Amino acid sequence: MRSSVLKLLRSRAGNYISGEEIAKHLNVSRTAIWKHIRELKQTGYEIVSHAKRGYALMGTPDLLLPNEVKSVLKSDLLGKEVVHFFDTDSTNNEAKKLAADGAVEGTIVVSEAQNSGRGRLSRGFFSPASKGIWLSVILRPSFAPQHASKCTLVTAVAVTKAIEKFTGIRCGIKWPNDIFYEGKKLVGILTEMNAEMDAVNYIVIGIGINVNIAQAEFPEELQRIATSLQAISGNAIERKELLSQVLVELESAYLEILKNGFLHILNEWKTYSITLGQAVNVIGIDQTFSGIAKDIDEDGALLVETENGVERVLAGDVSI
Ligand code: BTN
Repeated sequence: MRSSVLKLLRSRAGNYISGEEIAKHLNVSRTAIWKHIRELKQTGYEIVSHAKRGYALMGTPDLLLPNEVKSVLKSDLLGKEVVHFFDTDSTNNEAKKLAADGAVEGTIVVSEAQNSGRGRLSRGFFSPASKGIWLSVILRPSFAPQHASKCTLVTAVAVTKAIEKFTGIRCGIKWPNDIFYEGKKLVGILTEMNAEMDAVNYIVIGIGINVNIAQAEFPEELQRIATSLQAISGNAIERKELLSQVLVELESAYLEILKNGFLHILNEWKTYSITLGQAVNVIGIDQTFSGIAKDIDEDGALLVETENGVERVLAGDVSI
């Protein structure tokens, strides 16, 4: 009901609509409408009331509420269901619980803040309230589990494209999936999977985009190594619009890999790569070495030319 009231207000944004008209439309009392309006105002919607003219929506809160996200959604599959938290430990944890309980493919989980945001290799991820996009997407692909790790490269390409289209900022991808701008990290991606030997139950793709964090707001240890879109461009970015663009790009990449395989997107990944051609240090699971990053193979593994020949890196930390 609250969504329907909001929808009507939105359809006349900036103009009045009478309580009577809303009540008639939704077949409820004017008192019920008034209560919904009061709740919407409490959530942060700017609604002016006039005794004779009714209500007018003048502004919406900078929150990734399901109603807000859905009002700008351009994707069909991703964002079918939007689950929103003001604070949670990690959207990936919430998404995994929802997926295990049968959530439909395309469900997304967003939180204004994460109090235990998780990164790759058991690291934390800084996720302050309403300053970024802390997002997890549930997928249920038909491909075999061994292909899942490539989703992370695919996501990096999709998010890089979305950022470029929405802000004009061209970023680079550090293998496998960190998105960088001028040597500082802007986006992190953490993909998790639940599978049987031969079938994927679900994949959760976690994406953290630093959007409106002022450079000085990063903790001391991140100051020199992290950045945000606002810090780069000098402008505050509309988070829900960027989220909508990310979902469009990710959906189109996902449909492409389901239909035609990974080759095309892996080639696109190469055009955004800031790792290929560079001297790298690799801290792998059981060894550390250096060499020149030459290419990625069809599994998304990094091929590093060393003194002892070509090493194939499937997981680990690569520094440039
Ligand atoms: C990394 O930098 O190593 C990956 C960071 C991934 C962060 C995102 S934010 C949304 C989702 N929830 C998490 O706890 N992590 C991912």
